[in-house]
Amino acid sequence: MQPAIEINGISKRYRLGEGAQMYASFREALSGKLKNPWKTKGIGRQRRGEKNSFWAVKNVSLNIAKGETVALIGSNGAGKSTLLKIISRITDPTEGYIKVRGRMGSLLEVGTGFHPELTGRENIYLNGAILGMHKAEIDSKFDEIVSFAGIGKFLDTPVKRYSSGMYVRLAFSIAAHLDPEILIVDEVLAVGDVAFQKKCLGKMSEACSRARTVVFVSHNLAAVESLCSRGVVLHQGGIVFDGPAKDAIQFYLENLGGDGGASRSNIVDLASSPGRPPKFRPHLKKLELFNGDDRPLRGDVPAGGALKAVIRFDLDTPCTSFDAWIAFDTLGGQRVCTAHSSYEPDREHEERVGQQTFTCEIPSLPLIPGEYKVHVGLDIASGEADWIEDATRLTVLKSDFYGTGILPTKGLLLLRNRWSLEYQREAVAV
Ligand SMILES: Nc1ncnc2c1ncn2[C@@H]1O[C@H](COP(=O)(O)OP(=O)(O)OP(=O)(O)O)[C@@H](O)[C@H]1O
Ligand SMILES: [Mg+2]
Repeated sequence: MQPAIEINGISKRYRLGEGAQMYASFREALSGKLKNPWKTKGIGRQRRGEKNSFWAVKNVSLNIAKGETVALIGSNGAGKSTLLKIISRITDPTEGYIKVRGRMGSLLEVGTGFHPELTGRENIYLNGAILGMHKAEIDSKFDEIVSFAGIGKFLDTPVKRYSSGMYVRLAFSIAAHLDPEILIVDEVLAVGDVAFQKKCLGKMSEACSRARTVVFVSHNLAAVESLCSRGVVLHQGGIVFDGPAKDAIQFYLENLGGDGGASRSNIVDLASSPGRPPKFRPHLKKLELFNGDDRPLRGDVPAGGALKAVIRFDLDTPCTSFDAWIAFDTLGGQRVCTAHSSYEPDREHEERVGQQTFTCEIPSLPLIPGEYKVHVGLDIASGEADWIEDATRLTVLKSDFYGTGILPTKGLLLLRNRWSLEYQREAVAV
C-alpha cells in the first residue's frame, strides 16, 4: 500500500530579519544548545553565502503509512511545527517534495485555518468545504461540532472575538469531527483547560483507533506515549531518531530532554521565562527555592525532604482574591501533585497591589527519586492570570525515607504507612 504521507528530502530555509534573528537565537537558547553540545552532523544553521538565512528543517525524508499514528518529538525550535506546516501545505518547502494521499484536516497554531471575520458557524462550513465535504455531510456533523466545542451562544460571533481557548476548542472540534483521513495536530493540548484537554485526548484516541493516520506534536510525552505508536525525534531540523514511541521518548529524554528550561540556580527568573504561554502578561517575577534549613536549594532534594518555595509576583491593579501554586510533573508530563495557596484554610483575603510574595512550605516532598518539572502559576479572582511551565527542574535523590534503606521502585509517591501483624489465634470450639 502506498504511504499516506511521503516526505522526500524536505528542507525549509528561513531568512533572518532583525526580529527573526533574535527569535532564532532565543529558540537556540531554549533548546539549550550551549548547555548541550549534542549536534546533528551536516545541519549548519548558517553556511557561507547564506548569512541571512538558516535551515529550520533540513533534508527530512519520512514515509507515514495509512493508519499510522506518529508523534514528532523535539525541543523548542527543532522544526516540528515547520514540518507540520509543510505537510499541511501552509508553507512551501525550499527543497524536496511531499505527497499526501487522503483528505487531510490540520490543527496547527491558533490562527491558521480560520477566517477571522467569519462567524463560528461560517468557519465550520468553510473548513468542511476545504476538506471536500458536501453541505449535507457537514450539516449532519454540525450539532456535534458545536456541542463538543462548547461555543453555544457565540456560534454567530466572528471568531476574531473569541478567546484563544474558544478558538482552539472550535478548531479542534472541526478537525476531529469532519472526519479527515489524515489528522495533523500541533500542540493543541497545551491550550484549554484540563477538562477540554481530556476531551481532546479522547477524540484523538478515537481517531487513532479508527485507523486514521495521525501526525501529532506535543510536549506532553504522556499523551504522546498513550496515543502514538511511532515517534520521530527532530533536532535542529533533522531526524535523529525514528522508532516505537516509547523508545523515541526515552531517546529524547536521555539526549535532548534535559534542556527544556532547566536552571540549577535556587533563584529562577520568571519575568522573562520562555515557559510562559503567550496569552499571559508577566505577573510572576521570581521563584526561590530553599531546603528545610532555609539554605538555597539548587535543584537536588532528598526524597521526603522539606522544600520552601518563595514566589514573587506583581499585582498591577488592587485585588483581594489571588492565589499562587507550584506543581510537580514527571518528565513525561504527568502531574504528580500541586501545592496551591487556596488549599490553605482561613487564608486572609485583604486588598493588595504591587509587589507580593507568597511562601509555600512543604514539610516533606513525597516524590520517589527521579527528575521532575516544576511549574508555577498565579490565579487572580479564581482565573488563571499567569503560569510558567517547566520553570525549573528538581532532582529527587534517594534517601532513607522509611528508615529501612528501602524505597519503592514503582509508582510516583512515597506513602507514609504503618503496618501491624496480628497473630491468628486458634479457633476455640464453643
Ligand atoms: N516564519 C519564520 N521566520 C523565521 N524563522 C522561523 C519562522 N518560523 C519558525 N522559524 C524558526 O525555525 C525554527 C524551527 O521552528 P519551529 O516553530 O518549527 O520549531 P518547533 O519544533 O515547532 O518548536 P516549539 O516546540 O517551540 O513549538 C526555529 O528556530 C524558529 O525560530
Ligand atoms: Mg511548534
